[in-house]
Amino acid sequence: MASVPFDQLDGFIWMDGEFVKWSEAKIHVLTHGLHYGSSVFEGERAYGGEIFKLTEHTERLHESARIMGFKIPFSVAEIDESCRQLLKKQGFQDAYVRPIAWRGSDSLGVSAPNSRIHCAIAIWQWPSYFDPEQRLKGIRLDIAEYRRPDPRTAPSHAKASGLYMICTISKHAAEAKGYSDAMMLDWRGQVAEATGANIFFARDGKLHTPKADCFLNGITRRTVIELAKARGIEVAERVIMPEELEDFEECFLCGTAAEVTPVAEIGPYRFRPGPLCETMMEDYMEAVQPRRAVAAE
Ligand SMILES: Cc1ncc(COP(=O)(O)O)c(C=O)c1O
Repeated sequence: MASVPFDQLDGFIWMDGEFVKWSEAKIHVLTHGLHYGSSVFEGERAYGGEIFKLTEHTERLHESARIMGFKIPFSVAEIDESCRQLLKKQGFQDAYVRPIAWRGSDSLGVSAPNSRIHCAIAIWQWPSYFDPEQRLKGIRLDIAEYRRPDPRTAPSHAKASGLYMICTISKHAAEAKGYSDAMMLDWRGQVAEATGANIFFARDGKLHTPKADCFLNGITRRTVIELAKARGIEVAERVIMPEELEDFEECFLCGTAAEVTPVAEIGPYRFRPGPLCETMMEDYMEAVQPRRAVAAE
């Protein structure tokens, strides 16, 4: 994609029930969501004209809002339908889908329980989250200074915009040192995830991934676990300490934007993208394709 600023892309954005011209989808500067991070969002991908696991994403959007103390004034079915209509209107087969909901500008106190809740959806073409050449060789990750917060400190299971503050700081710091991203530990010092994707390791034909008890249990993470199990590959969801990274052979990230991306380095640790990375990349890319109708015999 050319480096056109995001507010200058073409087409339409769905906003509060209507399709508005991309350039006219605006909010006021005194929006609660902007000042206090009272917003939640989703990241979805369409493949071949269909949005993968759309309803699961929309349900998570509703659940994130519930955790943040607000109710989105559009049902899951209405948001699903608006995503599908917008995808058609934008004319894309393969695209990235970004629904977002936020507290409006009716009140700017920290407490704003009666603010209107707004909702918007934007769809654009976002081919590869990481540099495609780097991606095949395995990307390089730094280890972030910030840690994923204790669930008693922040709403860890909501896909809440505010939680991305430490992700942006960590990713910028990693990029400034020449890395593609950063692996984050959690508040206990256990391996957690990357700044926008979950993490898996492999050794002796088995997958290992941290328990999602203080970070997003990604839809891609759950898909990868299902796909691995369907192939008879064992998956251990467990505590992983950073020192253990030395003993793993392979590593990959997974998320809607990142899909399945092999990792070659994390700080001092080295991995070699191998058969498990390859299998999970292929199985995932197969799983996201729209189900083709089976021809009648
Ligand atoms: C911090 C973080 N963790 C994990 C994920 C993976 O989630 P999903 O697979 O549902 O996209 C994402 C992506 O949205 C993310 O931003």
